[in-house]
Amino acid sequence: MQVYLDNAATTPMDTQVIEAMHQVMKHTFGNPSSTHAIGRQAKSLIETARRTIAQLLNCKASEIVFTSGGTEADNMAIHASVHQMGAMRIITTPLEHHAVVHSVKAIEKHQNIQVDIVKTNEKGQVDLIDLEQLLSHTQQKTLVSLMHANNEIGTLLSLEQVSELCRKYNALFHSDTVQTMGHYCFDLQALDIDFITCAAHKFHGPKGVGFLYCNSKNKVAPLIHGGSQERGRRGGTENVYGIVGLEKAMQLAYQHLSHHQQYIQGLKDSMITQLRHLFEHVKFNGTIDPHESLYTVLNVQLPPTQQASMILFTLDLKGIAVSGGSACSAGSNEGSHVLQGIGVDTQQPNVRFSFSRHTTQQEIDYTIEQLSEIYQKIPALVEN
Ligand SMILES: Cc1ncc(COP(=O)(O)O)c(C=O)c1O
Repeated sequence: MQVYLDNAATTPMDTQVIEAMHQVMKHTFGNPSSTHAIGRQAKSLIETARRTIAQLLNCKASEIVFTSGGTEADNMAIHASVHQMGAMRIITTPLEHHAVVHSVKAIEKHQNIQVDIVKTNEKGQVDLIDLEQLLSHTQQKTLVSLMHANNEIGTLLSLEQVSELCRKYNALFHSDTVQTMGHYCFDLQALDIDFITCAAHKFHGPKGVGFLYCNSKNKVAPLIHGGSQERGRRGGTENVYGIVGLEKAMQLAYQHLSHHQQYIQGLKDSMITQLRHLFEHVKFNGTIDPHESLYTVLNVQLPPTQQASMILFTLDLKGIAVSGGSACSAGSNEGSHVLQGIGVDTQQPNVRFSFSRHTTQQEIDYTIEQLSEIYQKIPALVEN
């Protein structure tokens, strides 16, 4: 049996998304910048997609800038805050995705920007009192960059509360919403935020396409210089079929959102219950409170074993795809910067299970059965 429980890394494309893209590939090959009818057809697909997405998020179409995905959109937001909006200081956490962590580091080094770290607790939650203190202690224009949901442990941030603080102290607010776009509703008329980001492949769309939402109060200059595509904000011929795929994936995600939310939360609850039943010594990294945690992600510390690095490998051999955060499995000796950042021992077997609307109960049950077998064969320290 093949089991895919790594949906926070990427999701399989929906067949309706593939079909929509296929139609564009077959019939609309024009360059959207060409002024003739064939070019105009391609341009019109892009502008329709922009309007569809803007409607779903309750924002203006001109506030959507198509990008190559989440990383580029995060980079653009940080770059624009410093270069166009005059931010001299950035408040963030070490638990952000590398698209933010590394982008902040690069800008700190080259632009002499002050970077302040806001406190987080062992669940990965941001200390809002500390954030307010940091915001109140300066006259410098500040950017707050805090992710909506952590991609490794799923911990959620209240965008409303952070937005209120940012407005009170006149700070810019960027949130990496790559893990929540297509999984939660956004009303950008009600939520006062400067920048949010999207990657289509996190909700059954294609890879290599996403967008930056840039509040119309703000300016964005291109990171990629070239033609005047995207209203002069990103050079380069547009990824037309990717953008149409993104549009379709957004429509499908929001069409039956609450149904999908309930279904996926049910799978996560079942996994939690079965893991607790199977192991006396199982811990959940971050939080499993449904109000504080992304319903698609469950990060688990399995019982300690002398062969922690073998767990993922063995699951893979049994056809089960998951991610790890432990040393070795994360591709580095230190392990995940997020798990380390919340004080989790990365020498232990930490596994991220992540679900989607394509995940089935059988996949969950099979994974539990296989974990049970694995732990019967390998010695667990606590049980010896
Ligand atoms: C929270 C978060 N931000 C940014 C990214 C980067 O997105 P992309 O792979 O589309 O560049 C990811 C992807 O894993 C992510 O999970």
